[in-house]
Amino acid sequence: MIDHTSQILVTGGAGFIGSNLVHQLAQTKARVTILDNLVNGKSQNIQALLNEKVQFVQGDVRNLDLVKSLCNNVDVVFHLACLGVRHSLKNPHENHAVNATATLNLLDIAHQAKVKRFVYVSSSEVYGTARTVPMVEDHPTYPMTVYGASKLAGECYTRAYFESYGFPTVVVRPFNSFGPRSHHEGDSGEVIPKFMLRAMAGKPLIIFGDGKQTRDFTFVEDTARGILLAGICDEAIGQTINLGQGNEISINELAREVGEAVGVIPNIIYDSPRPGDVLRLYANSLRAKKLLGFAPKVSLQTGLLALKTWYLQMDIPPELLLQSERPRNWE
Ligand SMILES: NC(=O)c1ccc[n+]([C@@H]2O[C@H](COP(=O)([O-])OP(=O)(O)OC[C@H]3O[C@@H](n4cnc5c(N)ncnc54)[C@H](O)[C@@H]3O)[C@@H](O)[C@H]2O)c1
Repeated sequence: MIDHTSQILVTGGAGFIGSNLVHQLAQTKARVTILDNLVNGKSQNIQALLNEKVQFVQGDVRNLDLVKSLCNNVDVVFHLACLGVRHSLKNPHENHAVNATATLNLLDIAHQAKVKRFVYVSSSEVYGTARTVPMVEDHPTYPMTVYGASKLAGECYTRAYFESYGFPTVVVRPFNSFGPRSHHEGDSGEVIPKFMLRAMAGKPLIIFGDGKQTRDFTFVEDTARGILLAGICDEAIGQTINLGQGNEISINELAREVGEAVGVIPNIIYDSPRPGDVLRLYANSLRAKKLLGFAPKVSLQTGLLALKTWYLQMDIPPELLLQSERPRNWE
């Protein structure tokens, strides 16, 4: 139960999914502390929420003294702070330090501080390419990047704290999320915002590989709701839980869907495949339904329109936003 008496810590809370989670937590009237070093997060993602109950601390999750001071009297930790998949291709050690080592340290500190629930936000990237679909949580894990490997290490530490010490932890594995506040820029840039801005600017969409690779896209408000439920439902403790839409779509089909949302027939350019690119992801979310009562509410098409509206409301020309886009953003 999370209510006005609860004290919550959200690491990575100024990021894409984290800020959506904080928006939902703010509605519970809980006291929320957001820890984010803004390396990829943005203060404007959370600005409107800050008040005496929702506080922002700009700092690094690797700073043990800071993390210790923030875990005092906390009921629930939602741990989302991390560096991304493309970052890991060029900076494997830093990626590991933030995603894996900092998770172990945070678990240790939260356990000592007697935090009542620890929700670790992992990733479908821990699976690697699907061998059987839809992918259940017992599907083999075979990460293809240091990002996926470091997220898997983080989940293993999280489960180990449950098994060894009875610390009430939950691991959730979101599949690819999309929607407002997603990243188009730099090495954080994701396919849907990049496609959409390019379509809005009348520029070609760039597909790496043959476009037959598939993903299971979930609207970010659904993903955030699933994460929040993992912090509430007692049945989730000690469990590992997929959070996905349950629909598989190829990147070729996605390009068409984005074009339709924008109202254009997009021009497509094919480029060589991305290193470590997973070929197939398709979630089975039955466990989330059973344990959390989770069911995604927003379809891909509705979510794409919501993203387009968000860009239009920003009132910044897509051409200007695209100045921070890097097409081959792992190099
Ligand atoms: N976006 C997706 O499709 C997706 C899919 C599966 C899992 N996830 C997971 O969800 C979580 C959030 O991802 P996101 O997409 O919102 O990414 P994001 O980059 O927007 O959010 C991560 C946040 O962590 C912060 N951060 C990075 N290093 C930090 C550090 N050392 N100290 C403090 N803060 C730090 C960043 O500034 C950023 O705000 C991550 O754990 C990620 O692995 C995301």
